Amino acid sequence: MSEGGNGGIRIRKFSPRDMDEIVRVERASFDYSSVLGLLYWLTYYLIYWLISQGGFLIAEDNERVIGFAIACSLPTAQGELAAMAVDPKYWRMGIGTGLMEEAVAHLKGKGMRRIGVGVMRDNTQAIDFYRRFGFHKRARGFGIYDRMFRVI
Ligand SMILES: CC(C)(COP(=O)(O)OP(=O)(O)OC[C@H]1O[C@@H](n2cnc3c(N)ncnc32)[C@H](O)[C@@H]1OP(=O)(O)O)[C@@H](O)C(=O)NCCC(=O)NCCS
Repeated sequence: MSEGGNGGIRIRKFSPRDMDEIVRVERASFDYSSVLGLLYWLTYYLIYWLISQGGFLIAEDNERVIGFAIACSLPTAQGELAAMAVDPKYWRMGIGTGLMEEAVAHLKGKGMRRIGVGVMRDNTQAIDFYRRFGFHKRARGFGIYDRMFRVI
């Protein structure tokens, strides 16, 4: 899909054979205290993949998965960024930016006019990242989550 000026880094669509690597990146990026939490989120990602119409994106470095994002178009013209994570070894190298740009392009192509994302209230790193891309907090989400939105 896209090649950066960043060596062998590129963004492409997810394939089910990526699942082991998704688990690795997910566990490295988030602090899982229980396997049930991990299973919950992997199931959630797979459901979003099934309905995302090609919006599950993979960032890879020389064929090693280093990040992913799931951009899901919905009938309301508001897309959902259902997941976003980058391997910590690659943080602050523009990989999240590349995934975000592809996710926005994908959602625009599907006719979406806004994007929503759920973010843990204390995840300042992600909140700063989303703010950088024009997301604003609009609502409290479920439990420990807030909802952020941006127009595209
Ligand atoms: C959030 C995340 C995806 C960002 O990925 P990344 O590849 O490091 O992001 P980028 O390098 O493209 O950063 C783009 C900009 O976002 C902001 N940003 C990213 N990480 C930040 C941090 N730790 N603190 C403050 N701002 C940050 C900065 O403005 C940064 O630009 P700069 O590096 O030129 O200052 C990554 O930190 C991550 O995977 N975190 C753990 C998982 C997670 O929280 N996912 C979101 C769940 S809702």
